[in-house]
Amino acid sequence: MCGIVGYTGNAPAVPVLLDGLERLEYRGYDSAGVAVVSRERGLQIEKCKGRLSALREKLDGQPPLAGTAGIGHTRWATHGEPNDVNSHPHVSQNGRVAIVHNGIIENYVEIKEFLLHKGVAFRSDTDSEVVAQLLEYCFNDHSDPLDAVYAVLERLEGAYALGILCADRPDMLIAARKDAPLLLGYGDGESFIASDATAIIAHTRDVAYMEDGEVAVLTRAGVQVFDEYRRPIEKEHHFIEWDVSAAEKGGYAHFMFKEIMEQPEALRQTISPRLRDGRVVFEELHITAEDVRRFRRIFIVACGSSYHVGMVGKYNLERLMRTPVEVALASEFRYSDPLIDKDSLVIVISQSGETLDTMAALREARNRGAYVLSIVNVVGSSIARESDDVLYTWAGPEIAVATTKAYSTQLALLTMLGLWMARCLDRVEQTEYDAVVSELEALPAKLAEVVSSTEIYQYLASLYFNQECIFYIGRNLDYALGLEGSLKLKEISYIHSESYAAGELKHGTISLIEQGTLVMSLATYGPLLDKAVSNIVEVKSRGADVVALTTEEHRQRLEAIASHVLTIPRTHPVLQPNLGVVPLQLFAYYIALHRGCDIDKPKNLAKSVTVE
Ligand code: G6P
Repeated sequence: MCGIVGYTGNAPAVPVLLDGLERLEYRGYDSAGVAVVSRERGLQIEKCKGRLSALREKLDGQPPLAGTAGIGHTRWATHGEPNDVNSHPHVSQNGRVAIVHNGIIENYVEIKEFLLHKGVAFRSDTDSEVVAQLLEYCFNDHSDPLDAVYAVLERLEGAYALGILCADRPDMLIAARKDAPLLLGYGDGESFIASDATAIIAHTRDVAYMEDGEVAVLTRAGVQVFDEYRRPIEKEHHFIEWDVSAAEKGGYAHFMFKEIMEQPEALRQTISPRLRDGRVVFEELHITAEDVRRFRRIFIVACGSSYHVGMVGKYNLERLMRTPVEVALASEFRYSDPLIDKDSLVIVISQSGETLDTMAALREARNRGAYVLSIVNVVGSSIARESDDVLYTWAGPEIAVATTKAYSTQLALLTMLGLWMARCLDRVEQTEYDAVVSELEALPAKLAEVVSSTEIYQYLASLYFNQECIFYIGRNLDYALGLEGSLKLKEISYIHSESYAAGELKHGTISLIEQGTLVMSLATYGPLLDKAVSNIVEVKSRGADVVALTTEEHRQRLEAIASHVLTIPRTHPVLQPNLGVVPLQLFAYYIALHRGCDIDKPKNLAKSVTVE
């Protein structure tokens, strides 16, 4: 979704901004732009629809924009179609201010009408332009830019991360935040703003996360931050643990492939520090065994693939803890008047920690007194900061829009949490506990085995990349796994795909099976293998081609009935989806590769969904 980068220092701003925007490309966007300011030439803006390469071409064909302070933006259209005019930065009528904005100004119609009445002429159809125009309007009453900014913020409703440049302050950059992520970067004689650390990691790893209501003034001399009442505040600095190489392709053709391959290591980083002497240990948690005993209901709330992690989690947590678990899509949960109270635990799962619906669901849960524990990948993100407790997945930066390593680490961590809570409740047999722990220890190595050979997936993709529709079927954990496999495929290959609980086939889906339809039959869940076999026979007898996914010991049995068989090593059932997901990721990846799709940046999708 939209990305912001801003710079003020001694170097020309444009190359820093373009480099930052390039690193934000993964978030998904449809247009891009930059604005810089200099004493001699005032505000200079270039922006256009399309990829960053189009913006670069435009910039290359003209004298360089001059200035050592600037703002850049990648836009993912919400209000107003993607075109040159609607792209950011937006400039006020008389060219005094330029702004970039992430989020949505909910009362923009009202502000626009007010300004139109005052004779202000608008250029774009966006909600964001009102911020630039209102700022210029407020400048008439306030000579200090900060006064004008505070006057404007008072009138804005909705969500915003803002970067602001003023024509008459060529070394100054102002930033403001409410309900949309924004961080400050501290360099030597230079300062940065960014919606995401990836944008500035090549320049500094010393950052501070802005909080709602805060305003920052950045100059070469440093950064001053004020709270909503304009009182100066000291920000806590954070050091970004990963470096720029973690956010680069490093020789791989795609980030997605690199991230699939990084899964064994990501799992090791996530699991190992939390296993000690055969026990799961969460030193970072505040929640106590007594709290766990108090919870009568558990909710898992998330979006997209993180929701699919929750689907697996429901089966696993109920099995281990014998406590009712409900999984909800955050976008539904937030408006469902959920039956939660202070005896409820709400587990929120989010890679980015910024998904708006998930964030809103979290707030709803906290308002109703629930205890919120989040599983998050991005350190310091909004969801992490607003939760009562947070468990970080140490997956490192995930750049491909379609998640892989974040999904895997979320899954492992949720299962570990379930095991830990089951122990608090004294509801898990010691033998089962020991078996899961020992398989958790072995999981990274088993996963390394799965990613070590990819030929079979390449081969299958060469056979099936022209399919119009692909079905995924499975039961229990395999059903939850199929949801993720199917989503992966449609996200990056644009092939229509459905995932069904295999027992539901005969209630409708089976009428869609015809000669040559491809069915991915997931049969990794040992206790229901016989049922999986019956479902394969059912679809085969209607002409389907079946690719079965199972564990090594069942290969022969499935080879007798399926067209192709993929196998994974056996592990404890609660961890089996952690191995099962990888063949599905690789299958989707190679199918998309054969179809020539833009794998890391699928059309219309965004990595971090910060609008509703
Ligand atoms: C987007 C991404 C998905 C992700 C979902 C939830 O749709 O493309 O990969 O699963 O958002 O994101 P979150 O950051 O909250 O896990």
